[in-house]
Amino acid sequence: MLLVDMLPVDRIASLRPTAVNAILAEVRELQAKGADLVSLMRGEPDLPTPAHIVEACTQALHAGRTGYPDNRGEKNLREAVALKLRRDNGLAYDPATEILATTGATFGIHAALTAILQEGGEVLLPDPVYDAYYSPIRLAGGMPRAVRAEIWGGRFHIPDGALDEAWTPSVQAMILNTPWNPVGTVFTQAELERIGEFCLRRKITLISDEIYETILFDGHRHISPLAAVPELRESAVYVNSLSKTYSMTGWRVGYCAGPAAIIQRMFMVLAQSSRGPSTFVQDAAAVALAGSQDCVESMRLEYAARRQTVLDALSGIPGVDVLAPEGGFFAMVDVRGLGQTSDAVRRRLLHDFGVVVAHGSAYGDAGEGTLRVSFASGGETLRKGLVRLRDGLAHRP
Ligand SMILES: Cc1ncc(COP(=O)(O)O)c(C=O)c1O
Repeated sequence: MLLVDMLPVDRIASLRPTAVNAILAEVRELQAKGADLVSLMRGEPDLPTPAHIVEACTQALHAGRTGYPDNRGEKNLREAVALKLRRDNGLAYDPATEILATTGATFGIHAALTAILQEGGEVLLPDPVYDAYYSPIRLAGGMPRAVRAEIWGGRFHIPDGALDEAWTPSVQAMILNTPWNPVGTVFTQAELERIGEFCLRRKITLISDEIYETILFDGHRHISPLAAVPELRESAVYVNSLSKTYSMTGWRVGYCAGPAAIIQRMFMVLAQSSRGPSTFVQDAAAVALAGSQDCVESMRLEYAARRQTVLDALSGIPGVDVLAPEGGFFAMVDVRGLGQTSDAVRRRLLHDFGVVVAHGSAYGDAGEGTLRVSFASGGETLRKGLVRLRDGLAHRP
């Protein structure tokens, strides 16, 4: 018997691959056998990082910015984050004590949960949820707890009473993601007020993941929950990253903001582990955040065109209804009318039609009956993938 088998609490044993990683393993196996597959699954933008950001990184490297970074984040990046939060979100944070640079939002979420949760603390997650939240909660000694959402008026929303229904005295935090992956809902001011008021009344720390904030459609506006309910400022943690906004998934750079006492605790987590993004990457991130945002608008327009392509390609299929996303680059396709589980539909699409999507039930019980279709990739991938998806959904086995 291994020593780890005798541990009273084995946090590592509770960690799981995400749905995307599990499906990817299946895809690789099929590809190794020669299958020709097109993927509309991953949330990885295919657009290049804008040239001026790449240039800023190259210049930083040539200038010898290759030493250890300030572990809180280089001063220029923390100041750029403070500027961005003021400019785009109407939020005021002190770059000296209230901002932390992280290796992507992934580390920000991990550090926030580790800093906030006490052993056995529960964390509310709107269901369906970005399933990569589960394991960091377990790693921090907590337990995820679903908040029931449902489809109403063509979009997922959190019905009245669902937050209080999910609450228990063990709940210590809630992670909210707006625009919401996987479902594409952009929470309104009124919805955010309801959620914020609930967190304050129940004394729950809100972790606000706003990674898709710039990818918005049909006039929907992103409102940070911390701006919608300013009293949250005293307790909540803001999490963001450059991965999606600037097509910088591989750069591994993000940032958090919050009250100095929580940021200090998160810094202690970071100082024992990642020690922050590379110095030259931080210089480029500072340029991205503080400079012209024209590139962000161009990417938004590109995603808007792709979204329309998805809506057009999947319209008029009996038993199938696409929920038009308000933000992000995923469309949820309601396949309840097909009379099969979402995983059965996904597997049929993969094996018989060669197109890879994610099944909604992987994101929680409320996702059952839906498929998540990504338009983070465009061009030939999207065109070919949509033809296969349409054929597969229209085919009656
Ligand atoms: C909702 C959400 N949060 C966080 C992340 C992780 O982002 P990062 O690349 O910054 O670690 C993702 C990535 O897919 C995401 O969809």
